[in-house]
Amino acid sequence: MLELITTLTLSAIFFFLFNKWKISRNSNSTKKPPPGPRKLPIIGNLHQISNPPFRCFRALSNQHGPLMQLKLGETTAVVVSSPDLAKRMLKDLDPSFADRPQSAAADIILYRSSDVVFSQYGDYWRQMRKLCVDELLNAKTVRLFRSIRRDETSRLMDSLRESSGRVVNLTEKIFSHSSSVTCRAACGGVVEDGETLMKLMADSTRMVSGFEVADLFPSLSRILGALSWTRRRLEAMRRELDVILDDVIERHRRNRVENGSGKNSEFGSEDLVDVFLRVQEEGQLRIPIDNDNIKAVLFDIFTAGTETSSSTIDWAMVELLRHPRVMAKAQAELRQALKGNSTQQDDIVPNLKYLKLVIKETMRLHPPAPIVLRACKEEQVINGYTIPAGEKVLVNIWAMHRNPRYWDDPEMFKPERFENQSLDFVGGDYHFLPFGAGKRMCPGITFGLATIEFALSQLLYNFDWKLPEGLRGEDLDMTENVGLTVVRKQNLFVVATPYN
Ligand code: HEM
Repeated sequence: MLELITTLTLSAIFFFLFNKWKISRNSNSTKKPPPGPRKLPIIGNLHQISNPPFRCFRALSNQHGPLMQLKLGETTAVVVSSPDLAKRMLKDLDPSFADRPQSAAADIILYRSSDVVFSQYGDYWRQMRKLCVDELLNAKTVRLFRSIRRDETSRLMDSLRESSGRVVNLTEKIFSHSSSVTCRAACGGVVEDGETLMKLMADSTRMVSGFEVADLFPSLSRILGALSWTRRRLEAMRRELDVILDDVIERHRRNRVENGSGKNSEFGSEDLVDVFLRVQEEGQLRIPIDNDNIKAVLFDIFTAGTETSSSTIDWAMVELLRHPRVMAKAQAELRQALKGNSTQQDDIVPNLKYLKLVIKETMRLHPPAPIVLRACKEEQVINGYTIPAGEKVLVNIWAMHRNPRYWDDPEMFKPERFENQSLDFVGGDYHFLPFGAGKRMCPGITFGLATIEFALSQLLYNFDWKLPEGLRGEDLDMTENVGLTVVRKQNLFVVATPYN
């Protein structure tokens, strides 16, 4: 009797599994995944991925095509490397690819991914993004912040003058400058313990890029999660972040209660934190928010506003030091335009044509976010290949910015290449996408460009630059760091001599 029951049970399990396999085979037979390199059991294509990933994605795409599927541990990802496909997916089919992939690190450090960058496309994301744009990132408000930019840039100039003739770490100074501009604009002052905040920003952008073990082997990480070193490290970072951000919120809340004033900005009006606290109290939001949501968005703004701008200024200085002819031309334009007009600098800077070309060329070769991370919202068929809902999509803008089909001498730094082209940041040219595209395109373009243009113009106007004794421009190590935003691995050390 027992034997009969066992045989019947095993047969039932066998038929169940067989049917499941048949159904999945039939349903998959019409669905063709994008091509890709051969996959090994368990690790998939991980053995073919080295750092930085955008470089090896380009090499693999050259063999397997501009729409390529990779198996990264337990997960799959589609890598997109052609402007045509990027346009199709980010614009024509928008918002089908407007989700973000889940990241175990973002879940911890960004308060269950409730920030703007990592939240899923939907009402919550729309509400929080709109608040940031209306209160901080629109053109009118960015113009208002010119006194902050002027003040922080003159601090930077003073500190460089103090160390004139000596070797200084310019990377550190620029990072701290961009961080102060962003913090003062968003929360009415620099935060206490700015050093810890800067370290947290740098570490977190490295960890949320989706290449951590927890993201590649989610089932394993669920089992081993509590033991994982990364998880403990992230939780420690979150605790440090809480101390800093709770203090910012508490300071704002105290002013609201004690002084009856919810106006903490340097201009006597509300800053972003005040606005968040007010709308939270009023309770009129479609989707109510708590303090964690406010902290998540604030950390987004600090990080997105600091790393991207400072890395662009840093790369621009590196390229200018490697190309003295370009440096001389940019300085000549500036010194001519600003001669006798030093009080009008904010108005003149946006009209500096060559400086703008230098910035565009820097962002072409060194896009601060080289891979635009997206996820597919609902199943889509692209060029006959099926991309299932939830699939991670990695748009390799770094590769498109260096594709010889669209650029002459793509590896060379030549700002003049933009001279006769109408290529703009928001112009719909999909081989130049430093700010992404579509509904999730960067909302901080105006803010970021204003910081970059003003700081770079002042660095070039006020100083002559050289590398430390014995170092030549061509010796500079151009290796990139790994992370969501990409900075140069080595800090830039320079000698600045004031220009009279
Ligand atoms: C040089 C400057 C900057 C560059 C190159 C840059 C680049 C990018 C890119 C490529 C994206 C992803 C877009 C996409 O998915 O299509 C992005 C998103 C974002 N950026 Fe920027 N960014 C810059 C400056 C800023 C600044 C200054 C801020 C804020 C102060 C900011 C805030 C954001 C936010 C909140 C998102 C997420 C948008 C969303 O998911 O809806 N960025 N940025």
